[in-house]
Amino acid sequence: MYSVDEVKKSALQHITRLKNIVGEAFVFTDAENLDKYAHDETENLHFVPDIVIKPKTATEISQIMVLCNEHKIPVTPRGAGTGLSGGALPHMGGVLLSTERLNTIIEIDERNLQVITEPGVITEVLQDAVKERGLFYPPDPSSKGSCFIGGNIAENSGGPKAVKYGVVKDYVLNLEIVLPTGEIMWTGANVLKNATGYNLTQLIVGSEGTLAIVTKIVLRLIPYPKYDLLMLVPFNSLEKAGEAVSAIFRAGFTPSALELVEINALKIVSEFVDSTVVPVTDEMEAHLIIEVDGNHLETLMNEMEAIADLLTRFDCGDVFFADDAQQKAELWKLRRRVAEAVKIDGYTIEEDTVVPRAELPALIRGVKALGKQFDFDVVCYGHAGDGNLHIRIKKPGSKYSLDNPDVIPALKALFTLVKSLGGTISGEHGIGLIQKEYMDIVFDEAGLQLMRGIKKVFDPNNILNSGKIFNSV
Ligand code: LAC
Ligand code: ZN
Repeated sequence: MYSVDEVKKSALQHITRLKNIVGEAFVFTDAENLDKYAHDETENLHFVPDIVIKPKTATEISQIMVLCNEHKIPVTPRGAGTGLSGGALPHMGGVLLSTERLNTIIEIDERNLQVITEPGVITEVLQDAVKERGLFYPPDPSSKGSCFIGGNIAENSGGPKAVKYGVVKDYVLNLEIVLPTGEIMWTGANVLKNATGYNLTQLIVGSEGTLAIVTKIVLRLIPYPKYDLLMLVPFNSLEKAGEAVSAIFRAGFTPSALELVEINALKIVSEFVDSTVVPVTDEMEAHLIIEVDGNHLETLMNEMEAIADLLTRFDCGDVFFADDAQQKAELWKLRRRVAEAVKIDGYTIEEDTVVPRAELPALIRGVKALGKQFDFDVVCYGHAGDGNLHIRIKKPGSKYSLDNPDVIPALKALFTLVKSLGGTISGEHGIGLIQKEYMDIVFDEAGLQLMRGIKKVFDPNNILNSGKIFNSV
């Protein structure tokens, strides 16, 4: 690997060729633009690229990759920069390749219930476009109003709907990709079943931009459910809220969202978005947000009542039913903006733990004990129905976890706990830059060697988003 200075020199030496590929107007080296691409939503990290390039087509990306591969210039692909594990951070300098100009929805195929899109389309824009045709693309990360669908592919994103509808991988049928060596290829076919060789499509999903750059995406869609109902349930005890979660599924219900927000997070976000929709009282330690959806309103109403009834066994307070679209929107706004609000409040370090659902109370208990042991403030929220708990950590003076000796032992203890509960260290945010030091807690050497080997096959010169997920080979 070259030093940062050598990378810079090499990248800048080839700037004329890069400009010839994409046009002068789409290559940037000025401080303001470089700085714009130096961070994402991860903690408080900052890495400045040497060049920002904004190609428009797969062919242009292919030419960029051929050039960078030849001269071993690091390339960091980037979507909207909403990531939470540092996947889009150009920590080695070099070329930052933004997919923002690949922003066309190519075709909504209503005959086959599929959509073909470019990666730089905002997830919610895509969802709205297919909804106009009565179709549903469910994966809905909190950042859906700004994140790109390409970034969602890279991270195998989830979101609240995952509990009923699955995550991104469950919708991706086929991908057009550009390899680090410049070849453009499709990974599969636009079909619902495929037993043809290795599943390259699913290998790319969740590979965090380390194996290839995705340039076209084929997603399956489903009919949009006609109705949804939403309620908010307060609990006296955070742990009891965690216990209630798995009881709901054991009783035979499948909510379309089952989210947990601890009281501190709710206080902070309510203030942040200036909302009084939820009365925040100190006796309540946590709230569950529960949604059901489907095509028969009466069935849904019965289901909601039955769930509310079941929850009385878990020491819950008065249930709040969101009556109209505005109340629902308000509740969802609160939930979706938790991450942003608590980060601004100083909870800058975010973990994305996931355990088998019934282990959630044990995880919550363990997290609180670790907070005390290591003297951190911790706040929990997230996709409780999936056992996917986001844990935000505040420790004055420690704004990030990367290389931070104050934070690393606490995270090791946390991830060891998660592993002991049968879980893993990321449910939907990815490993990226900030979790890679902990991969050996959940994978043995054989697993890590396989991953490094796969990386080498795709990217022999280790130029594409290298040093993410695991250290360079
Ligand atoms: C959320 C993001 C942080 O659940 O994953 O809000
Ligand atoms: Zn989440």
